[in-house]
Order: sequence, then C-alpha cells, then structure tokens
Amino acid sequence: MNSFLLVFSLVLFFVAAWFAWRYYDLKKRISGYANIIRNRPENLPTDLKGFEDLSNAIASLQTTFDLQLSALDSDNAKLSAILDQLTDGVMIADANGFIQFANPAAQKLFEISNALGSSVTEILRNHQLVDAWRRCQQTGEMQSESVELPARRQFLQLIAIPDTHAGGSLLLAQDLTRVRRLETVRRDFISNVSHELRTPLASLKALTETLQSGALSDPEAGPRFLGRISTEVDALTQMAQELLDLSRIESGQVELILAPLTPKSLVTSAADRMRMQAERAGLKLSVKCEDNLPNIRADKSRLEQVLVNLIHNAVKFTRPGGEVSLETESANGGVRFAVRDSGVGIPAESLSRIFERFYRVDKSRTGSGTGLGLSISKHIIEAHGGKIWAESNEGRGSTFYFVIPLN
Ligand SMILES: Nc1ncnc2c1ncn2[C@@H]1O[C@H](COP(=O)(O)OP(=O)(O)OP(=O)(O)O)[C@@H](O)[C@H]1O
Ligand SMILES: [Mg+2]
Repeated sequence: MNSFLLVFSLVLFFVAAWFAWRYYDLKKRISGYANIIRNRPENLPTDLKGFEDLSNAIASLQTTFDLQLSALDSDNAKLSAILDQLTDGVMIADANGFIQFANPAAQKLFEISNALGSSVTEILRNHQLVDAWRRCQQTGEMQSESVELPARRQFLQLIAIPDTHAGGSLLLAQDLTRVRRLETVRRDFISNVSHELRTPLASLKALTETLQSGALSDPEAGPRFLGRISTEVDALTQMAQELLDLSRIESGQVELILAPLTPKSLVTSAADRMRMQAERAGLKLSVKCEDNLPNIRADKSRLEQVLVNLIHNAVKFTRPGGEVSLETESANGGVRFAVRDSGVGIPAESLSRIFERFYRVDKSRTGSGTGLGLSISKHIIEAHGGKIWAESNEGRGSTFYFVIPLN
C-alpha cells in the first residue's frame, strides 16, 4: 500500500513538474513574443510553437492594420498637398481660439511665419474679422465677413465655419483684391467711355442745331459746320474702332499671326506710312537700323500698328521744326525698337500712367485722341512676350521703347 502511495506521489510530482515547466516555458515564449511585438513588430515570427493560431491571427491583424495605415498616410499626403497648393487660406482653431493648423496660403495672407499656437485675434488683427469668428463660436453658425485692409492694400473675405464636434472652428480666408480691382477698372472704364462720348456728341448736337437754325443756307458757314461734323464723326468712329480693338485684344480674341520678320522691313514700312503726316506737321522723320539684326517672330500688321501709334503720338506732341527718329538695335535676347521725338515731353508723374486706358496727360493740350493708343500698343507687345516703356525729359522730348524677344 505504502509503495503504491509512493509511486502515485512520484507520478503526481512529475506530472506537476511537467506542467510547471510547460507553464514556465510558455510564459517565457509569450513574453518573448510580446517583446518582439513591442520592439520589432515588422519581424513577427509566425511559428510560435503551440500558439500558431494566435500568432497567425496577430500577424493577419497586423497586415490589415499596416494596409489601413498606408491608405491613411496616402490620404493624408493628398490632403496636405491640396492644402499646400490651395490659394485660399485655411486655418483650424480650437475651442479656446488657438490655431491648430494653418496652410501656407493663410500664413501668406496674414503675413505670419508660424501661426501654430497663436490666437485667432493675433492672426486676424482686424476687429471685424475677429467679430465674425466670435459670432461663429457663439451662435454655432457659419459667418462671413469682407474687409478692406488699407495698410496692406488688400481686400479679404473670411468665412468662419463651426466645428460642432470639437467646439473649434474652421477659418477660410480669400484674397479678393484682384476681383475688386477688376470691378473698379470696369466701373472706371464705363464712366470714361460715357465721358469721352459726351463731348463729341454734344458738339454734333450743337453743330446740327446751328445748321437747322439757318446756317445751312449760309454759303460760307454751312460747309464749314458740315466739315466739323464730319471730323467729329471720324473721331467717334476711330474711338469705336479702338475700343473694339482693345476689348478684342484684352479678351484674347485676337490671334497673333506670327511669322519671321526682318526688323528693318517693319520699321521702314511704318515710317513710309507716317512720312506724309510728319512732313505736313513740319517734322523730320528718320530711320536708323542696325545692320545684321536677327529676324523676329511677330505679327507684322500688329507690330506695325504699334509703331504707327507711337509715331503718330510723336508727331502729335512735337512742334514744327522738330525731329522724330526710329531706331532699331539688338538688345539682350531680343530686338529693341525706339521712337524718339524732340517734342513737349511727359511729366515724370505721368510716365507710369500713360499706358492706362483713356489716360491723357493734359486733355486740353492733346486735342484729338482718346487715350487708347498706348494701352492697345502695350497689349500687343505683351502678347508677343515683349515689354514696352517710355522715358522722357519734359520740354525736351520723349522716347518710347519696346523689346520683342527672339523666341
Ligand atoms: N510722344 C509723346 N510725347 C508727349 N506725350 C505723349 C507722347 N506719347 C503719348 N503721350 C501722352 O500719353 C497720352 C496717352 O497716349 P495715347 O496714345 O494712349 O493716347 P492719345 O494719343 O491721346 O489718343 P489715341 O492714341 O487713342 O488717339 C497722350 O494723351 C499724351 O498725353
Ligand atoms: Mg496716341
């Protein structure tokens, strides 16, 4: 009996020892496995003895997780590329009004280098915009506000959208400066056109009334008034044509017909067209053209129109006995044309404005002309990829230059 008990206890001991050892071994392997998961999850062993099912399940979980992570990464990259490239400013503020995110456009619009952590008030620096954001926080509704910032010569629009989950807000800022400027230009343009139309129309009215009230039968005054009517109609027609040209060129409807062109032929043919007019005004018109100039690619009739406009101005603003000269020479990367006159000149403060539509230095002095010639010329030169500018010495003369690049 005793020996049976002894054997039984021995067996029991060995069984317990075996289980203890198994338990110890398993614990050791599991903690080793846990260590691997913690430190090198990319090298997970799939053959954890006795736990194949578990390790397989973890490995497949990890693969799914990796896939989701990389999809998330690529979504993130797309989103941040969009936010980086967006021309509108985007900012996210938390519930306390601290900026958590700002894209480059927002930093540029508000002229800040690092917006993160700054307060909305610090960034917006304008009480109307800050009020809009506050209203959005208080009401939980979208708010929008547009302001002009005279110091920065900017027109901004801010849209504040509440974030109902986090209690913060999304701020979108748009720079409307260009749109506003275009609106102003359009308004000015319309008022200028109506103003320019009023003068010739008023003279036409006065002239016809005079004719109606008896001047028609006057053998001397009748034809004179008719002649003046014809001049006014010509001026109106020219203005209508110039306006049409300008709007076509500005809207890109005029297609340039580019072809190789020798600078000399261009200058000579423009000079030939204007020679009579210059001589009639008592002016000497000369052409200087550098030899061996390279050909340019240009629309001949358009460039000739520019030269004719410039010569026409030179003739108009130079007193009899003066000189007008056309010069052509190579400039770096292109050919430079110049129309030089010894005329009345242009005051320094007007030099930057003469290329604007309808701008005339001294409306009483110029007499005929609508102030469109130079702005048409500027558009034509820019459509060729070139540049046009003027230099002048008041009382001594002006020179208009333009460069046409070689390619
Ligand atoms: N060579 C020049 N000398 C002096 N002033 C000039 C000269 N060229 C242009 N200007 C000034 O610039 C203004 C604008 O010129 P622009 O050619 O655009 O208009 P315009 O000659 O008055 O009219 P348009 O050309 O439409 O008939 C002129 O009114 C004139 O005041
Ligand atoms: Mg002109």
